[in-house]
Amino acid sequence: MPYQPMPFSLETERLTLALWDDVDAAGYRELVGERGDEMPTLDGARDEVREARENAPGRGIHCMTLRRRGEDEFLGYCGLVIGRATIEEPEIAYELLRRAHGNGYATEAAAAIVDAARATGRKRLWSTVRTWNTPSFRVLEKIGFRRDHTTTDDRGDIVWNVLDL
Ligand SMILES: CC(C)(COP(=O)(O)OP(=O)(O)OC[C@H]1O[C@@H](n2cnc3c(N)ncnc32)[C@H](O)[C@@H]1OP(=O)(O)O)[C@@H](O)C(=O)NCCC(=O)NCCS
Repeated sequence: MPYQPMPFSLETERLTLALWDDVDAAGYRELVGERGDEMPTLDGARDEVREARENAPGRGIHCMTLRRRGEDEFLGYCGLVIGRATIEEPEIAYELLRRAHGNGYATEAAAAIVDAARATGRKRLWSTVRTWNTPSFRVLEKIGFRRDHTTTDDRGDIVWNVLDL
């Protein structure tokens, strides 16, 4: 792999970003429920967060949990994923619990992830967003992404946003 690995923790002005831990299973479960998807069991959610943590070192990119600095409450996650893109030019991803929305947290975390992505030696990031997702487009706009092209799947249009690092 020609890239440096992402760090396993980061601090921003207001947030701590960390690798997934067993204690995040409950918050992850709630996040899936808020999507409108069927909630995994607590055991199932624990398996998923463990898998995410275990896969992180080998892959070199990963998502990290978000908490306010010095606080325990799980707010959501942000990080890099292959998603619809590639390991060389991955996607930035973020998802926060509803009660954490509207504070600029996604933007703050995503800006730190962009810096971390640049430090890995990557040259470009993507983010694929459904056309209705105005808050997500706004986060991307605030951290410098531009709309590049649109593709379509069986659920509708997907806008590909790009950032040259
Ligand atoms: C997208 C998401 C992470 C944003 O989190 P957040 O912490 O609230 O984001 P921020 O506060 O950093 O920024 C949101 C911006 O969108 C704006 N916004 C939010 N809802 C909006 C709306 N309905 N119309 C217009 N702008 C809107 C906010 O005003 C803010 O912009 P501003 O700083 O210029 O005022 C959050 O909405 C979320 O978790 N959504 C569900 C998961 C998801 O869609 N993830 C992205 C998949 S591509």
